[in-house]
Amino acid sequence: MNHTEMINKTEIWVKEQLFDEKSGHDWYHIKRVTNQAIVLANKEQADLFIVTMASLLHDIADDKLIENEEKALNSIKEWLDSIQVTPEEQALIFDIIQSISFKAGNGQLLRTIEAKVVQDADRLDAIGAIGIARAFTYSGQKGQAMYDPTIAVRDNMTLEEYRNGKSSAVHHFYEKLFKLKDLMNTESAKEEAEKRHLFMEEFLEQFYREWEGV
Ligand code: ADP
Ligand code: NI
Repeated sequence: MNHTEMINKTEIWVKEQLFDEKSGHDWYHIKRVTNQAIVLANKEQADLFIVTMASLLHDIADDKLIENEEKALNSIKEWLDSIQVTPEEQALIFDIIQSISFKAGNGQLLRTIEAKVVQDADRLDAIGAIGIARAFTYSGQKGQAMYDPTIAVRDNMTLEEYRNGKSSAVHHFYEKLFKLKDLMNTESAKEEAEKRHLFMEEFLEQFYREWEGV
């Protein structure tokens, strides 16, 4: 099987598993991240096969989506074996999907340009117009308010607080979204992040104006 066939088959496999996902990690999130990662990979001269495969698989073993991370990692391993991805390529792919997740405060050093590109693409999808829409979608799904002025903005959260503490969609801008611009690894992603950051600032200014009724 050549690389293109492996990618096509993996797309179908991932799509099947994420079809009903409602927390912002649906198939279209994966598709956007993969497309964005390919654009960045071309600019940064990263390996396109590794970047594409890691992007497609990056949320399959996420702690919010599945109860058992080890089980999910095993199922990815079985999948990659079944389409004959080499052990060397698998090692690179696993290194990426295990090191890129945001998880409050657990910033890991990324070893490869491929990991940097996939993380940047995932983070770009959390900001800008799409990022705003995802934050409100996530909040709605969790039963959080779109905005609650009585809640303080949380800094330096533990993973438990990050996942389960009281928050709102607007609070999430300060707790995560506005921080992402400075966390981009590659120059190409930094440029795009600047634009999306400005858009979010404008959005919130308008939001507060309307909140106050002026
Ligand atoms: P990632 O895709 O980097 O793993 P998360 O899984 O933490 O990000 O979140 C998925 C989407 O939901 C992202 O767009 C993120 O900004 C948003 N989100 C996560 N936590 C919250 C929250 N407490 N309130 C609002 N939106 C959230
Ligand atoms: Ni993601």
